[in-house]
Amino acid sequence: MIKRVLLFVGTRPEIIKAAPLFHALRKSSDIQVDLVHTGQHYDWNMSGVFFEQLELPDPIYHLEVGSGSQVYQVSEIMRRMEDVVSSYVPSVIVAIGDTNSTLGTALGSVKLDIPFIHVESGLRSFDNTMPEELNRKVADHLASLNFPPTERAASNLLNEGFPPERTFVTGNTVVDILLKMLPRARRESTILKKLKVDPRKLLVTVTVHRRENVENPDRLSSIVGAVTELREAQVVWPLHPRTREALENAGLMKDLIEAKHVKVVDPLPYLDFIKLLENSTVVATDSGGVQEEAATLRIPCVVLRDSTERPELIDSGIGVMAGTSETRILRAVRDFMYRDE
Ligand code: UD1
Ligand code: UDP
Repeated sequence: MIKRVLLFVGTRPEIIKAAPLFHALRKSSDIQVDLVHTGQHYDWNMSGVFFEQLELPDPIYHLEVGSGSQVYQVSEIMRRMEDVVSSYVPSVIVAIGDTNSTLGTALGSVKLDIPFIHVESGLRSFDNTMPEELNRKVADHLASLNFPPTERAASNLLNEGFPPERTFVTGNTVVDILLKMLPRARRESTILKKLKVDPRKLLVTVTVHRRENVENPDRLSSIVGAVTELREAQVVWPLHPRTREALENAGLMKDLIEAKHVKVVDPLPYLDFIKLLENSTVVATDSGGVQEEAATLRIPCVVLRDSTERPELIDSGIGVMAGTSETRILRAVRDFMYRDE
């Protein structure tokens, strides 16, 4: 009997990480798979461009939830899923990661009696003040099957009593899609030329969007301080819309625009971003996906956070956790920039 799979996505990283899974499931003759978009991310450069570049079809349902409080997003996804589930009648529902979309999907699935499968499960920062930590913990324990990316993530699940026979270590689909798309990015992306960046010189890519950094003007100002101080490098900072707004509200945009070595740009399409990343000397980021990509490409990564649910990066030596003190960020970036190997 054909299994009917609904793969839910809502934000930029979920669309990227869903792509290889969707294409693999589409190849299977006994599976029908379709995409549902929650609408958490909706700007073209946060959503549509990834569907286009990753050759994903339009979602068959779009919940159009949009921005709002966490309670709004999670509850609206649950509410709007009801019609989708009753008309499509999926055998299983799949979601990835730890966003409000993931949690809303997980809750909606179990309340509607559809088995939920969680991809990229078991990650733990052990910091319950992060919305993502609560999202992933709850989603993991609502799941019928968990697909943690690493052995360590699997052991977090086992330690919390999740049955080992329903836990499968899979690796992370971000690696599959990155390795697949990189040759195309090398060929097609003109981002370095467009930004007038010379890849033979020091190049630092920055991304910031985590609530703990964006909603705290002191932390944001400290990151901006480090970036503007780094005059010996070319710095490219693709701004998440939330970060742009926060920088403008905090009066920090001016500092970045005045710094001649810094280029602040809109969120980049995937092919441009991975080309930029591959040519970077160092990346400084609070993003989960960018940490994973940096590890894959072996680009030294300065993590702009105080805790991480991806300790493998730090243990491997490719990443260093710098928090957001200006001095620590600068020291970590310069240590990586000037080391021999
Ligand atoms: C969300 C996830 C975070 C993930 C990130 C990926 C939660 C709690 N957070 O954070 O885990 O790492 O996505 O990027 O689910 N906005 C736009 N256009 C868009 C989308 C958002 O302008 O297309 C602006 C809106 O002002 C919105 C704000 O960004 O209020 C925050 O968006 P939201 O999706 O709530 O959280 P992210 O910070 O993107
Ligand atoms: N990314 C992108 N353009 C950008 C910034 C990031 O395509 O301007 C991609 C990046 O390659 C990675 C993903 O977005 O795969 C990470 O998403 P984000 O940082 O928004 O979320 P997180 O991974 O922290 O949940």
